[in-house]
Amino acid sequence: MSSLPPLADPVRLTVRTSAGSYAIEIAAEATRWLGQLLDAAGVPARRFVVSTQTVWRLHGERLQGVTGEEAILIPDGERFKHLATVGRIYDSLVRAGADRASAIVALGGGVTGDVAGFAAATYLRGIPVVQVPTTLLAQVDSAIGGKVGVNHALGKNLIGAFHPPAAVVIDPELLATLPRREFRAGLYEVVKYGVIASRTLFDQTSRDLAALFGRDASALLPVVAASCRIKATIVEQDERESGLRRTLNFGHTAGHALEAVTKYRRFRHGEAVAYGMLAASALAAARGVLPESERAEIASLIAKMGPLPAVADLSAADVVEATKRDKKVIAGRLHFVLPTAIGATTIVGDVTLEELTRALVGIGLKEG
Ligand SMILES: NC(=O)c1ccc[n+]([C@@H]2O[C@H](COP(=O)([O-])OP(=O)(O)OC[C@H]3O[C@@H](n4cnc5c(N)ncnc54)[C@H](O)[C@@H]3O)[C@@H](O)[C@H]2O)c1
Ligand SMILES: [Zn+2]
Repeated sequence: MSSLPPLADPVRLTVRTSAGSYAIEIAAEATRWLGQLLDAAGVPARRFVVSTQTVWRLHGERLQGVTGEEAILIPDGERFKHLATVGRIYDSLVRAGADRASAIVALGGGVTGDVAGFAAATYLRGIPVVQVPTTLLAQVDSAIGGKVGVNHALGKNLIGAFHPPAAVVIDPELLATLPRREFRAGLYEVVKYGVIASRTLFDQTSRDLAALFGRDASALLPVVAASCRIKATIVEQDERESGLRRTLNFGHTAGHALEAVTKYRRFRHGEAVAYGMLAASALAAARGVLPESERAEIASLIAKMGPLPAVADLSAADVVEATKRDKKVIAGRLHFVLPTAIGATTIVGDVTLEELTRALVGIGLKEG
């Protein structure tokens, strides 16, 4: 036994919301004692796990003992993040006679968490949901903050609610089975947290990159915990996105536009955000608000993380046009989250479309 590497210490964070508070438990093997954690958090004893075939096959066995109810399995993928899938969850709940003394346990990536969370927010006008995220993106981002919802045929995340979880249980060991590209996509959000709020997290991510990609739980745990702490602190101070929460959109203005012009097919969300961070950093450096050496550090960490889908065939003008449709343009000027250093940001409201075009061309898009 003594030859095993030491496990990183478990971390518990508390998130205060307008409706109360919830705990985020981050521990290697946390899912093995999920039942006890949920008992301690006062989660009702009738628990309905919502998951996908893929995740349930890989990790369902860890949840033995959490519930006597049959798992509700939904189809996998962003294209099933719509109301029909929520309807299927309601069907299963009604058939099983789920009542107000029931809870949903969402076991999966961000799609599962958002869909199952929305079902929980609306079934019987709201039953508790526990988030058990299984992708890195979900562990550091979507499982925290209480936003749940689904897409509409005409736009992403148009239907939703605020439904803070009863608890979030994060087990970094679940990430062992995550495809490398999915893992990397989530890691770009970790880089985002480092750039907006923590030089230490940025440096740790850079230093431990190989161990992180190797899914070494003792490297993952502190990085996931630091990311969760940043998101939790921000959403606690700005639950409904009036100000501070916007800093979480660093890299997302150009990122969303890149996703839109490629019809959500070319990039994983995090990959588009990686380009968005490169563009925002280039723009900040060109304005002189970010030292060039720190821009270069951000770009070099992103490059070191591995390949990104090509952008050389995409037109900067089309991407700029897409940011306009995203309603982020007011009187020809864009609201933008700009880094001022690694670990600090500012929000400006005066970025011109020409500046953004130049930044996009600077990171490899074609002119015109
Ligand atoms: N609610 C929020 O605040 C918030 C924030 C950010 C993103 N989101 C949403 O999150 C969604 C994206 O989440 P995602 O990136 O996790 O995508 P996802 O849920 O589609 O999961 C990605 C893929 O990984 C697979 N997978 C999940 N866990 C696995 C595991 N442990 N091992 C192997 N494979 C596994 C899934 O089957 C899926 O194919 C988007 O819909 C986005 O809108 C929500
Ligand atoms: Zn994001």
